[in-house]
Amino acid sequence: MSILSGISSFFGLDIGTTGIRAVELRGSGQSRALVKYAYVPVDAKLSQSDSKSDQQKLAQILANLISEARLSTKNVAVGLPGSRVFTAVVDFDRVPASDLPKAIMYQADSLIPTPPAESKIDWALLGDSPKDQTKQELLISSVPNNYVESRLDLIESIGLNVVAFEPDNIALSRALVPSGTAQPQLIIDMGQLTTDLIVTMADAPRLTRSIPTGIDAVLRSAVQNLNVDEKQAEQFVYKFGVSKDKLEGQVFQAIVGTLDMLVSEIDKSIKFFQARYPNTPIERMIVTGGASTIPEFPLYLANKFGVNVEIGNAWRNVSFAPERRNELLGVSSQFGVAVGLAERNE
Ligand SMILES: Nc1ncnc2c1ncn2[C@@H]1O[C@H](COP(=O)(O)OP(=O)(O)OP(=O)(O)O)[C@@H](O)[C@H]1O
Ligand SMILES: [Mg+2]
Repeated sequence: MSILSGISSFFGLDIGTTGIRAVELRGSGQSRALVKYAYVPVDAKLSQSDSKSDQQKLAQILANLISEARLSTKNVAVGLPGSRVFTAVVDFDRVPASDLPKAIMYQADSLIPTPPAESKIDWALLGDSPKDQTKQELLISSVPNNYVESRLDLIESIGLNVVAFEPDNIALSRALVPSGTAQPQLIIDMGQLTTDLIVTMADAPRLTRSIPTGIDAVLRSAVQNLNVDEKQAEQFVYKFGVSKDKLEGQVFQAIVGTLDMLVSEIDKSIKFFQARYPNTPIERMIVTGGASTIPEFPLYLANKFGVNVEIGNAWRNVSFAPERRNELLGVSSQFGVAVGLAERNE
């Protein structure tokens, strides 16, 4: 650990629905070097369970991963899933900076969905409101205390030291969007149970939404409509994807209804964003999560929305030995959150 830079080492930790991922980087600023990354699959039923014994099992899996990974530090920055975090951009009175914390707490009840006394609240000023010249724009986010506390218990129970909690969507933006990008970018993180949408503009999130349609829903529609078991459905979906000419378009037909539910939610979010920021169209969609590996899914979105769609590269700001390129790109779709957490400036 350097005593001159003041940056103590820590690693990023993403406890996702289907796996736990850890990433440690070295250095600071725009490009950092990969020290270590680690992954262990987790059964979705286990990761989603609130029961004490399941939480202990999860802690044990995490402990094994950490000891096998031989990370250089016990300090950890932990992601908070989009489905648990509330985030909104609101117009707020132009009060003096020193009065802001008090003013926000005073109005918190009308700004966040959960009781303020039972929530961890955080905010950042974004600048002038695009809607109302007398106001400023405030990014506010909150998460229930009991969720943060249970995560803290789990992680501290195995001897780690939590240096920060951060919403997954902020970490993802840091990893996937080049800093200084002025035009709006829409990140689509399609995970196992949920799809998170994040519109970023000028290095700040402007809209986030968590939609309860993930890969699980896509696979279930394949099971039903193709009359196959889960394993086969997974093989079909990841092999043929959204291609209309593979297997006479049968897989496409089986899952298109579910995908179009998602498309319509994406469309709603874009319209919502555009109503607030009318003169800045979405420049690009960046797809990540398990679904970014579904063949032709990015192309399907590109055709639906008429914008550029790219597959997110979680390692875009990270340097590593060239011979590791294929290995790392192969896991890029599931490492965005952990990498973004590791890229924080502590
Ligand atoms: N090539 C592939 N073949 C089979 N399954 C794949 C492939 N690529 C990704 N997946 C699946 O993607 C899913 C995981 O997606 P992802 O890593 O985004 O989810 P997660 O982060 O665990 O979930 P969440 O973000 O909702 O908590 C898993 O079900 C995994 O098996
Ligand atoms: Mg995820």
